[in-house]
Amino acid sequence: MTELRHFLRDDDVSPAEQAEILTLAAALKKNPFAQRPLEGPRGVGVIFEKNSTRTRFSFEMGIAQLGGHAVVVDGRDTQLGREETLADTGRVLSRYVDAIVWRTFEQVRLDEMASAATVPVVNALSNEFHPCQVLADLLTLRERKGDLTGRNLTYFGDGANNMSHSLLLGGVTAGLNVTIAAPTGFEPLPWILEAARKRAAETGATITVTDDPVAAAAGADALVTDTWTSMGQENDGLDRVGPFRPFRLDAALLANAEPDAVVLHCLPAHRGEEITDEVLDGPHSVVWDEAENRLHAQKALLVWLLARRGGGA
Ligand code: CP
Ligand code: NVA
Repeated sequence: MTELRHFLRDDDVSPAEQAEILTLAAALKKNPFAQRPLEGPRGVGVIFEKNSTRTRFSFEMGIAQLGGHAVVVDGRDTQLGREETLADTGRVLSRYVDAIVWRTFEQVRLDEMASAATVPVVNALSNEFHPCQVLADLLTLRERKGDLTGRNLTYFGDGANNMSHSLLLGGVTAGLNVTIAAPTGFEPLPWILEAARKRAAETGATITVTDDPVAAAAGADALVTDTWTSMGQENDGLDRVGPFRPFRLDAALLANAEPDAVVLHCLPAHRGEEITDEVLDGPHSVVWDEAENRLHAQKALLVWLLARRGGGA
């Protein structure tokens, strides 16, 4: 099979393909060294234009466990920082490595790199999406809840950020009913909402956008939050505290959810802002499993993408 596939946003995989990747991730979690498609070692370029702890460690270790070598660089130190074009960079890196993993700003940058690369390009977080995180989130939810079809997930906070968008797209792909509870003016971007609605029509999932956090928590099987100020938004001139206070994930909000609801946060957490210590460290929280699952989910994703290129698995 030689089919070049990229993973730039959550709906780049079909519902069946997403399920296949998650099942593979669960198998790799049990048997971490079962797949060695990067034996050689073959290389993966892992480029960061924003800070990272989890993504950096989980990709570098995951690539090593798959038998490969990760070339991890700060994009600002490469010629990208001196305006070599994204397309030329994609062409050149494709001659050295078997996949490119990239954390950057605008989604169009990923599109441009992918259009010229001849190896899979993976979005390690952009302004618009964080699809690798959501694969880990879905793996974590499957571990706790089994089949996700018809389960209810509510996200509280900045509805227009990468986590909100990826939970929408990736969540409905998994059959989850997704609710976004966000202050007025921080709703999901319309074109992403439209893409999520299209995917939801295929899976039978529902989408709700509301500014009422208490109503949004009612009946939730999973409650998710994220920072109110994403990387790059520090000086955007918006009030990213006042309007968000009613959306803080605290014990009172959690009390409205299902009794066995789980709490997710991609981390890093801003304790006392979007989530309280009591909730983050409490019995409903699965955030440490969620962080671990980045490793397993991303390994599965790489195995899956490389297999489509005829490279093992
Ligand atoms: N959740 C996440 O992507 O964390 P890092 O920014 O530390 O990689
Ligand atoms: N929304 C956050 C996620 C961090 C992993 C950000 O982009 O900063």
